[in-house]
Parts: sequence; C-alpha cells; structure tokens
Amino acid sequence: MKIWHPYTQEATEPPPIPIDQGKGAYLYTRDGRRLIDGISSWWVNLHGHGHPLIAAAIAAQACKLEHVIFAGFTHEAAEELAERLARILPAELDRVFYSDNGSTAVEAALKIAIQYWYNQGQTKKHRIVALEHAYHGDTIGAMSVSADSPFTAAFEVLRLPVFRVRNAAELEELVSKREDEIAAMIVEPLVQGAGGMKMYPASELKRFQQLCAEHSVLLIADEVFTGLGRTGRMFACEHAGITPDLMCISKGLTGGFLPFAVTVCRSEIYSAFHSTDRSRTFFHGHSYSGNPLGCAAANATLKIFETEPVFERITAIERIHEARLADFRQHPTVVDARMLGTISAIELRTGDPGYVSSVRSRLYNFFIEHGVLLRPLGNVVYIVPPYVIRQDDLHYTYEIVGKALDIL
Ligand SMILES: Cc1ncc(COP(=O)(O)O)c(C=O)c1O
Repeated sequence: MKIWHPYTQEATEPPPIPIDQGKGAYLYTRDGRRLIDGISSWWVNLHGHGHPLIAAAIAAQACKLEHVIFAGFTHEAAEELAERLARILPAELDRVFYSDNGSTAVEAALKIAIQYWYNQGQTKKHRIVALEHAYHGDTIGAMSVSADSPFTAAFEVLRLPVFRVRNAAELEELVSKREDEIAAMIVEPLVQGAGGMKMYPASELKRFQQLCAEHSVLLIADEVFTGLGRTGRMFACEHAGITPDLMCISKGLTGGFLPFAVTVCRSEIYSAFHSTDRSRTFFHGHSYSGNPLGCAAANATLKIFETEPVFERITAIERIHEARLADFRQHPTVVDARMLGTISAIELRTGDPGYVSSVRSRLYNFFIEHGVLLRPLGNVVYIVPPYVIRQDDLHYTYEIVGKALDIL
C-alpha cells in the first residue's frame, strides 16, 4: 500500500521528507538535517513540538480512559475543557460542542445555525453568507462556504449555494433584501488564511457583526486558524470587541498534538434545541466526539497559557515581524507585506499569481534546502511560527526569504 499525501502532486513535487523528531520550533529529518518549522506544521503548533507537559497529559489520560462514547456519557477531561474554555471566551458563549478538526467544527456550526431557525419554524432561513477569498475546510459544507478556487473546481455540482460578499457594503445590500432566507454569515475574523493571508480591519468585522445582529442573521466566527493567540489576542474577534453567535476553534487547541475541535455557541441558540420534542435534537456527532485524549491535550495546551509567558513570546514575534517586514516593503518584487500578531505575509509580484503560481515550488524547495519549512500560498510567502521560536531563528528565516527574493 502506498500513501496518498494531502495537497500533494507527486508528479511534480519532490518525495515527502521523513521526519523522525520534533522539538520546540525544530523538525529533525531522518537523514540528520534540522528544519525550522516556520508554519507551525499547518498552523497547529503553538508551544513547540514535543512539549513535555502536553505529551505527559496525553499519556496520563491514555492510561486512565482513552475513549468513551460521548452520547449519554461524559468524563472529567471534557468537563475540565469546558471550564477552561469558559475562562478565555466571552461569557455569552456558554455551550460547547466537541468534534475532530477544523472542517467538522465548521460543519457543526453551519448545521446548528440552520437547525436553529428550522426548530423555530423558519424553514426558509437556510442560506449562508460567506466572504470572497474564504477558506473554511475541505468537507462538502465547509468547501461550499469556502471561495471558488482550484481546490473546489471539480465539485461545483456538489457545493451548496452560498451568498458571496466582498465587504460590509455588499453585506448590507444583501441582508436588507434577503434576510428572511439567510441563516448565518461565516467569516474568518481579520485574517483569511488559506485564501492568501488576506487581512481586513477590525472595523469591517465590527460592521459585519452589527449588520448580522440588525437583520437576524447568526454570525459564525471561524477562529480555527486565528484563535489561541495567533493574531496577538486570544481570539481575533477581540480586536473588534465583538462576540459572535457561534465560534469554531481547532488547530492549535491541542498544541498540535491531536485532531480536535470545538464549536461554541450562545445559550439562546442552544435553547432552540432543548425540548421534550425529540425532533429538535441536534442529530450530529462523530465517533471521536469529546475524545478524552484530545480533551487532555487541549487542557494542557490552555494551561500552558497560564504557566508560561506565552503572550510575551507572541509580542516578541510581532516585534520581529514588524521590523523585518519594513525592509521587504522596499523590495522590487514585493507587492505587499502585511502582518497581524504572529502572522506575517509577503505577497510577490509574479506573472501568474494565485495558489497555483509556478513560483511556489521554486521557493518551497529553496527554503527547505536552507533549513526552513515555509510553504508559500502561491505567490504569498507567509511566516506563522510556533510561539517558542528562538528570535535568531526567526531572523534567520527572514534572511532566507530575502535571499530567495533576490535570486527569484
Ligand atoms: C479558517 C479555517 N477553517 C477551517 C479549516 C479546516 O481545518 P481542518 O484542516 O482541520 O479541517 C482551516 C484549515 O486550514 C482554516 O484555516
């Protein structure tokens, strides 16, 4: 049996690199090289590879209870996680639904939003609004709310119809005419990650929230990428001072150790499902919903925010991003250099922009040859390091990016 790797075109890409070990911000290859993980292994790692506290928490949980069906049963790790989430989320978001990954967290949010209206007899209110350039995952529902892209082209016939808007002005026009059809709007708050690290101001997010509230449209914040400190705040929504109706959190939630996700919502939403009429139940779940190992990893990850200077590390990364991006803005091949919190992005001038830009593979291979894992999104080179990255390693990463641009 051969392995089929995700997002990989074997016909043109080099074979996968075997990794034997991860420690801090480093990955160690089987042939003895060390790579700086400049993308937190698909944005999941926060506190460093192989963090001993998270590893120990998983091991201890595995010896006690590895899994139990989560319908009709509960366990300590899941209850502790609900309490820990309550400490870092707005008080209004007080109901948590567990699942396995970012896409399932989004699927659950979309289904909760649609059934919320259905349970109240509003069956016409089932359409979703999403943003241009959005990415929310690869399952059919999440792919439907994601923007049209080379990822989605083959599945046009399967994608659910979605209202697509570019900004608050377009949203206003839409909701003023069709609010009776719209269940929810889903957004990646402030940073549209896979869409090319596109950033928009907090004032725009605030406006989305106001318009949704005024027009009885639920707002889903997909914080799968932006959550847990990535943007310099615990959640990106905090920059705009808003509380969405539903929020999806995954990726960094287990510190990059295990697939796990949560969808949280307001109690008013949950109330529409709470009934002696069984047909109002949320008939949705996964074999591994509430998996104790995932909960234990998440508890340890959140605990590290309390016991280690995580936000000081985040600030240190922000400062380096700020200082280094200033130089890139002058570079003739750079169209734009932007950042928010620990996320920085350098957009390059190329003849063929977009995800399938030919410049991508050349850059990727160059970075690997120089000991850095960076995976440009087409013509956008971005750096999203684990928070524990050493400052000299982050500077070195920028030096290698600079060299790559010079020889491009
Ligand atoms: C904003 C956002 N939502 C959802 C997802 C999907 O998460 P997963 O890959 O865990 O299914 C991603 C993944 O990159 C993401 O960036």
